[in-house]
Amino acid sequence: MMDLFSEIEAPEREELRNLRKELEEANYKYYVLNMPTLSDREFDEKMHRLQALEAMFPDMFDPKSPTQHVGSDLGKKGFETVKHKYPMLSLANSYSREEIEDWVRKLPSNAEIVCELKYDGLSISLWYEKGVLVRALTRGDGQQGDDVIANIKTIPSIPWKIERDDVPDFFELRGEVLLPWERFEALNKEREEQEEPLFANPRNAASGTLKLQDPKEVARRGLDAYLYYMIGENLPGKTHFERLNTAKEWGFHISDAIKVCKNVDEVMAYIAYWDTERKNLPVATDGIVLKVNNLAQQEELGYTAKTPRWAIAYKFPAEKQLTLLKEITYQVGRTGVVTPVANLEPVQLSGTMVQRATLHNEDFIKSLDIRPGDMVWVEKGGEIIPKIVGRADRNDAMSATPSLNDEMMYSFPTTCPECGATLVRVEGEAAWRCPNEAGCPPQIKGKIEHFVSRKAMSIDGLGEETIDLLYRQGLLHNIADIYDLKAEDIASQERLGEKSAQNMLAGIEASKQVPWARVLFALGIRMVGETTAKKIARKYNTIDSLQWATVKQLCAIEDVGPQIAENIVKYFEDLQNLEILERLRQAGLQFEGEAEAEPTSDKLAGQIIVISGTFSHHSRDEYKAMIEANGGKNSGSVSKKTNFILAGENMGPEKRKKAEDLGIQLMTEDEFLGMIE
Ligand code: IVH
Repeated sequence: MMDLFSEIEAPEREELRNLRKELEEANYKYYVLNMPTLSDREFDEKMHRLQALEAMFPDMFDPKSPTQHVGSDLGKKGFETVKHKYPMLSLANSYSREEIEDWVRKLPSNAEIVCELKYDGLSISLWYEKGVLVRALTRGDGQQGDDVIANIKTIPSIPWKIERDDVPDFFELRGEVLLPWERFEALNKEREEQEEPLFANPRNAASGTLKLQDPKEVARRGLDAYLYYMIGENLPGKTHFERLNTAKEWGFHISDAIKVCKNVDEVMAYIAYWDTERKNLPVATDGIVLKVNNLAQQEELGYTAKTPRWAIAYKFPAEKQLTLLKEITYQVGRTGVVTPVANLEPVQLSGTMVQRATLHNEDFIKSLDIRPGDMVWVEKGGEIIPKIVGRADRNDAMSATPSLNDEMMYSFPTTCPECGATLVRVEGEAAWRCPNEAGCPPQIKGKIEHFVSRKAMSIDGLGEETIDLLYRQGLLHNIADIYDLKAEDIASQERLGEKSAQNMLAGIEASKQVPWARVLFALGIRMVGETTAKKIARKYNTIDSLQWATVKQLCAIEDVGPQIAENIVKYFEDLQNLEILERLRQAGLQFEGEAEAEPTSDKLAGQIIVISGTFSHHSRDEYKAMIEANGGKNSGSVSKKTNFILAGENMGPEKRKKAEDLGIQLMTEDEFLGMIE
């Protein structure tokens, strides 16, 4: 029996414990998995509530509470974890003029405030010893971070070495690593083509990129960085602003949007200006950072456990609008996934008119109980595709459907809107799929689009519209049909002519030389992306050997798990696929061949190197192979992008002059060999 006199626990204690758990989990998902589950605002609100509860129950203090430490991105393999010389803290957030005024009130009355943009990427700490970049640490858990220097060195605006006399023996520059919008969109487009999961926003893309084990891939993706904080002993300057200017003189990428303000009105004017103007920037920003300019004043103000008192962030409000959900339609993707789409009363959001937004999947719609006629919140954050994030109360006068009964409950369609096949939902997956791969139009066209894409067979002149046209004319039903196309079939189409026909046929002919690894990727076997295809082709250098491989044998290949292995085995069990493969073989496609070797080191990852002159230890071809084996790229001509020149005897005078003009370093044979040793 329950003891009536035992202490009954206050419900807030339970709430406190739950909040700790929830925030810990949210941190893990955000920093380690790159899959945020809470909006920044929700996170902050929960954090504030937790702080209030912890103040209420001091006996429940726990140094491990999320209020006491910043989130951690540690936990990825392959990087050296290093202790920070100075902890990497977070910033307190504010959302209104009042909160900024509260903060300013606590500063010395004569304090100048530096306003900067708050870049929405991930922080990095660069260590320079005697002017040389020696480490690049992620924030990690704030006390120690992962050294990602090989990846950071792929960012062209970060100097590897500063050749000046006035550089202190040691300093640290901190900043934000970002993936510019343009690069982010291109990357996602590519991932969509290759059936890889999309990044939700540039921040996640940058974070995922920085933790890759392959600096060559990092270089290709095109990260950038803005630096905003110099720290160390005996550094020049008495103010933050002076230090940033010094860093700029030393060749660092410092934003031009920095302003010293004297009062809150000036700060608010800066905020108002940049809240609009930031939409024209090449990178994502999510607020403003305010910092006390004077370094002595900074020191006096000091730090809390997690944040400096001398700085605060102001977060821009997320752009959200309420609008009418007119209808839910369904879009079938290349892989058969059926995505529910909200068709909205058009609404202005972040400078564009939005009338369609994703509703993600069935579970999402059901969890919010969304039905046509509802007023819904649509948001366009860092993501490219606008999304529905909530629903207004139905009793609200604004709602178009004030009374609903349960019969009007939403239900997901059971058949494919494109081909009528019965949809299937694999256990554990959120998506419904159309299984009719060979007969469902968007899947047929999608497969062909993938096959001809740049990284697959790279057939010019056969774009999305042309594929659609030829499909509708009954000329193109699968990838093998491409090789049966005749000049007159193409030229007789309304939008196409002789010239297009010739171009296309030349592209089709050239594709017969595309190496086996890319052909394998082009086949579009589910989950077999470009890199996986390369790895498989290295092990199985003919399609015949691959055809008979078992799941177990395939799983022995790096990156191939049971799911991928099963997809491959199933692909070769399908008679329609075998028939298509036979036709492709007849057409003369490369179904065998040695795949290029994997680089043995990443010492030259992302580096573009020009070879010039004659050499005594190795031949030019050998040097070329060494560059590639170490992850570098050999280029024939000197340009701004060249990292250095491997210079032998009798180097061409033109190249030498160009290298001098551009300030590109020349490296001797011995220096080069020493470097890659
Ligand atoms: S200063 C000790 N300045 O925002 C203060 N941070 O939410 C160090 N951030 O961890 C930070 N732009 O990753 C500073 N101009 C800026 C920033 C900035 C973006 C990031 C940084 C920080 C996070 C806090």
